[in-house]
Amino acid sequence: MSKSFFITTAIDYPNGLPHMGHAYEKVVADLYARWNRQLGTDVFFLTGTDENGQKLVKAAEAEKIPTKEYVDAQVKAFEKLCIDLKISKNDFIRTTEARHHKTCQEFWTKLEAKGDIYFGAYEGQYCLACESFYTELQAPDGLCPVHGTKLDAVKEKGYFFRLSSYADWVRSFISDNPNFISPASARKEMLNRIDKEPIRDLSVSRPNAGWGIPIPGHEDFVMYTWFDALINYLSAVATPDLFKKYWPADMHVIGKDITWFHAVIWPAMLKAADYELPKQIYVHGMVLGEDGKKMSKSLGNGVDPQTIISKFPIDSFRYYLLRAIPSGLDGAFVTADLRMRHNSELANDYGNLLMRVVKLGMKKCGSDFSPEGVTGHFNFETLGAKMAESMNEREHHRALELLWASINEVNLYLNDKAPWKLEGADPKFKETIYNALYAIHSFGTLISPFMPEVGEKTLFSLGTENKGMRGLKFGIHQFKLVEPPVLFPKMDA
Ligand code: MSP
Repeated sequence: MSKSFFITTAIDYPNGLPHMGHAYEKVVADLYARWNRQLGTDVFFLTGTDENGQKLVKAAEAEKIPTKEYVDAQVKAFEKLCIDLKISKNDFIRTTEARHHKTCQEFWTKLEAKGDIYFGAYEGQYCLACESFYTELQAPDGLCPVHGTKLDAVKEKGYFFRLSSYADWVRSFISDNPNFISPASARKEMLNRIDKEPIRDLSVSRPNAGWGIPIPGHEDFVMYTWFDALINYLSAVATPDLFKKYWPADMHVIGKDITWFHAVIWPAMLKAADYELPKQIYVHGMVLGEDGKKMSKSLGNGVDPQTIISKFPIDSFRYYLLRAIPSGLDGAFVTADLRMRHNSELANDYGNLLMRVVKLGMKKCGSDFSPEGVTGHFNFETLGAKMAESMNEREHHRALELLWASINEVNLYLNDKAPWKLEGADPKFKETIYNALYAIHSFGTLISPFMPEVGEKTLFSLGTENKGMRGLKFGIHQFKLVEPPVLFPKMDA
């Protein structure tokens, strides 16, 4: 039986167009999905949209159209973004789908029957944009700590999940499982927060105003949108086949603003309902504006992913997000920096290497290059192993740095050997070109999860196939060269 890997992104609120943060998260998750597939793992990659919140109702009201109609139209932009970014998802879940409602209602019934959900009264300070309550400790001034807007005082009767009774268990679980929250800084932050704030029971219902998932047996209420949203990860693999193959999730990819929901509330919900826990919550940083501040409409520092997609090759965009923003940290999106990296690291270092080796080889020796009589100069199995180590540590920017160090090494090797000065019949010519082709094959393979189109086009121009890590061995390839396309046309400001 092959190993499986179930990876998810957060599900996005579709009450606006997809933004850079959404694009970033999808590209990061896609990288890990593709990387694991390339290792021969059976990957299930899930993304989707979170559609049951009150803010969707408000947004539809503002447009004067029925909520469902509004949401259906909005979701199209998120599906398109996945296509444009080459996101290799296996499923796109929408929380208005019947399969999700069913899973949530079953989940609820289980918890209520166990006594983990009870009826009571709640009073709290709510932020509609976050769809979240804040305690006095978090918002002493009555303003939302994320949006800076005035919180709404909410006082209602409703249902609670006994989160407090799982507090000690959650703390021990996080502290006993160092890989559960990655990176370590995010784990530390969660442990600090648990120690600082008492974990209270969670209000998990809202009055039913015609939108949301009705609570079974109490149809005058719908589920609190975060309670239902988290369950999407189960709904997508709820069929016995999928559940058996993929549960528990291996990696939930989320942004740092929603770590608490995934690292504290979600494990407690799963524990209460007797499910195995996800293996890892991977927390990425925020994409910031050029000014280093959070992208926002009012600051006008946002960059629309679709604008970038219309100007740059998609793989240059992916490369930039994965290399320029260190894993787990915040990073500014600077279009001029993207352009610079496109022109230098991609066009000069990588594109030119491919172009000059293939063209020179074809010009002096024709298309066919075999390993007979060639001594190996490089070992890219080691590079693959080192990159895999970085990927296992969730340090994908390091994996790219390692790859680029090797690319530069091969460029220096070529400058040193200067095969353009040699005759095609000179054995040294064949030796140099074969070694360079082996390098390019290895780079094309290792780059594929980061830049799928570039990987594919690279291997196509060598006449080889992507054999994953197995293909990194020296001397196993017969190359049949085809003139490569220009992968990275120079971009002017
Ligand atoms: N609907 C909830 C998630 C429910 S998951 C069960 C939500 N939606 S969101 O649309 O606001 O955010 C979706 C994801 O995008 C989150 O992981 C969030 O952290 C991420 N990002 C939102 N803005 C971001 C940046 N500026 N930069 C990087 N990621 C950011 O929260």
